[in-house]
This record gives sequence, C-alpha cells and structure tokens, in this order.
Amino acid sequence: MADTITIIDDRTGKKVTVPITGGVFSSAALRELDPSLFMYDPAFLSTASCASSITYLDGDAGILRYRGYPIEQLAENSTFLEVAYLLLNGELPTKEEMAAWEYGVCHHTMIHENMRKRFVDGFHYDAHPMGMFVSATAALGTFYEDAKNIFDKESFDKQVLRLVAKVPTIAAMCYRFSQGLPFVSPNNSLSYGENFLNMMFRIGEDYSVDPVLARAMDVLFILHADHEQNCGTTTMRVVSSANSDPYTSTAAAAAALYGPLHGGANEAVVRMLAEIGDVKNVPAFIESVKAGEGRLMGFGHRVYKNFDPRATLIKKTAYEVFEVTGMNPLLSIALELEKVALSDEYFVSRKLYPNVDFYSGLIYQALGFPVDMFTVLFAIPRTVGWLAHMQELLNDKDQKISRPRQWYTGADERNYIPVEKR
Ligand code: CMC
Repeated sequence: MADTITIIDDRTGKKVTVPITGGVFSSAALRELDPSLFMYDPAFLSTASCASSITYLDGDAGILRYRGYPIEQLAENSTFLEVAYLLLNGELPTKEEMAAWEYGVCHHTMIHENMRKRFVDGFHYDAHPMGMFVSATAALGTFYEDAKNIFDKESFDKQVLRLVAKVPTIAAMCYRFSQGLPFVSPNNSLSYGENFLNMMFRIGEDYSVDPVLARAMDVLFILHADHEQNCGTTTMRVVSSANSDPYTSTAAAAAALYGPLHGGANEAVVRMLAEIGDVKNVPAFIESVKAGEGRLMGFGHRVYKNFDPRATLIKKTAYEVFEVTGMNPLLSIALELEKVALSDEYFVSRKLYPNVDFYSGLIYQALGFPVDMFTVLFAIPRTVGWLAHMQELLNDKDQKISRPRQWYTGADERNYIPVEKR
C-alpha cells in the first residue's frame, strides 16, 4: 500500500498526490489544487500546526514520553530540574551540566522588590492567585530590557533561566499576599520543590519541609511539565509566533491554562467533590452529569481515550502523601465516583477516564494549598514546557506568524442605514 494520499477536486478533475509521513500529510497540496480552498477544522481536531520533538503521546495506548523517555521512568528516577533541562535541551544533563543548571536556577529565584511592593500589593485583597500569576508573569518582563532579544541565544537562555527560577517565587508571593502573610525570600540551599514549599508555608523559624512531601511536589511538577499541543501550549506558540517576549508569551499561555476545561479543572474537581459531600450522593451526581447538568470534572481528555498515564502515577503519589498528612476526606468520594463512572455505559462508550486533574487536587489540598492555588501549581512546571515550545518554534524555519483562515458565514454586502431610518 502506497504511503500517499490523493485528493481530487471534483469540480475541475485536478488531482494531487502527497506523501504521508508519520501519519501526517502537508496541507500545501490543497493550495496546489486551489489556493482559495481551506479546510474547516474548529478546535484543530485534525490539524497538526507544527512538527515537534519534545513530547510524544499516544492517547489510545496511554503513552507519554518526554524527549523519548517514558514518563513513568522520569517520575520514578528523575527530579523536576533534571526533567526541565531535558525538555529544554533535548538530552539528559551530564553531572557537570546538571550542577551548572541547578546553580543557575537557584541563583535567579529572587524578584525585584518593586514587583511585590508596587505591583502585587496593588491587587485587591481577595484576588484569585491565578489572575495575579498571569499578570505578574507579564509584568516581570518589564524588568528585563533584554527580554525582547529573542533571537539572541544567550539572551533567550537567560530569560528561560529567569522564568524557570522565578515562577515559584511569583506563585508563593501571590499566595502570601492573598493570606496577608509576609513574603518569604527564596532559600538557595533548598531544592526547587523544597524552596517553593518553604516560601509558601514558612511561619517563623520552626518550619522544615517533609522530604516525602517535597518529593511529591517534585513528581507532580515532572508530570505537569509538558503535554504537547494543548490549549496553553498552542497559545504559547501562537503568541510567540508574533515574536512577543518570553514573559508576555508565558503569561498568555497561563491565561489559557486558567480556564476550567484546561488547568482550572483540578480546582473544579475539588469543588465538585466538596459539593457532592458524601459517598451516598455519588449515584445521583452521576445521573445529573448524564442528564447534561454539568460535567464530571477531572474526567475525559481530547487525546487520551484509554487512560491518562499521569493519573495513574498521581494516584500512587496521593497515597504516599496521605501517609504523612493523613487521608483527605474527599478521597472516598473520588474513589466511588471513579468506580461508578468506569462501569457506566455513558462514560465507557465515550472513553472518559480520570485525567491528570482528578487526583492532583486532593494531593494539593493535603499538602495545605488552598483550592484557588491549584492552577498556579500546574502553571509553575508547565512554564518549562511552554518555553521549550517557544524555543523550538523560533528555531523552526517552517514557522511563520500564526494566522488561521476563517469560513465567513455573515451577511453579504449591504448599505449603511442612518439610525433614524432603522
Ligand atoms: N463529563 C461528562 N461528559 C463528558 C465529559 C465529562 N468530563 N467529557 C466529555 N464528555 C462527553 C461530552 O458531553 C460528549 O458527549 P456527546 O458525544 O454525547 O455530546 C463527549 O463526551 C465528547 O466530549 P467533547 O467535549 O467533545 O470532548 P473534548 O475532547 O472536546 O473535551 C475535555 C475534552 C477535557 C475538555 C472534556 O473531556 C472535559 O470537559 N472534561 C472535564 C474537564 C477536565 O477534566 N479537564 C481537564 C483536562 S486534562 C488537563 C489538561 O490538559 O488541561
């Protein structure tokens, strides 16, 4: 069987044959047939907008790999900063490379005092931390004149280092502000996850980070670091295709992540579980979802139609965390929901399985994070993935400024009528 596809324009009889490579064929063939012809593909269900060598995922088989390495192996053996290096550079670091990268990140964690005093302090006392995170990330770029030099590799790498190092500081700062607590400065002697937990929760001198919880944080960061062309990452690529700076592009991607159908789902899951309130209410809740009265949050995925490998790993991490923190009372409701949904024809026939967000919120809650911080916890590690995609896009000669076409369905030309005659 030939690895080609032939498209025939029945209006003209013209045809064009194009190669299929890796399950993809170039839409340039269509332009060859008729340059005025476009494919209608709302939400990009059948469109690959880029070639990428960062993350591989096979939704039917439940496979997720970063740069070829199975997510299970990375979650078991690696650290978030090592995974960040891998995503950004394509290879695992040597000992020396890792030491330099870790040192670099640890020594760029501080943010300018004016960010906190003049910018963050201006928010309303109950501002949502994710809204603060989005704006603060964009504002951070205004402190670096060189941020716009995106085609200068040295300068771009510097912004990457700054962003990876500073997003936990921004996140913790937004949280401390929302709680009315004094800001805790970064501590360069702690690991990435430990430093973040320390900046979040230290009160006085007697705080030390539990190693099991710090490791859980690191594993969660690894699992969220990249996930190819989701809504946020696509936003990152679209915005940076206009050559916007990395801070503005990251803020735009974070804005997409904020939505409840995307990274906001972890927050929505815990709110949903709290609303269900008791295991005995699960069957009625499932019936209401089936009747179209809302979605089972944390279930379903555009790509995973078997299981989400991240959900499996997160469930395991949840039990490790609960050993230290005690059981999250919402866990029994989550387990019952999962059991009922996975044996219900509605969810089975639509291939709806727990996704990464179903159990992550329960862990975050057990770690002491308030619900409205959950999406920020997703944004911190995903910043690495976004920046890896921006870097790939800037080095891709096939890419131009993103500019999809539309199918115009509005009125034909008509004449303006003055308001007194309407
Ligand atoms: N609960 C109930 N029904 C659902 C759900 C759900 N969570 N998800 C999909 N469906 C139904 C949907 O109603 C539709 O049914 P029908 O064919 O009868 O109209 C069918 O399944 C297909 O749904 P879809 O909306 O066309 O699927 P999609 O690929 O566009 O949406 C999704 C994917 C993740 C947005 C969706 O499954 C959803 O809304 N899930 C809940 C929110 C959530 O957990 N989001 C986190 C995603 S993972 C983290 C991330 O990457 O951001």
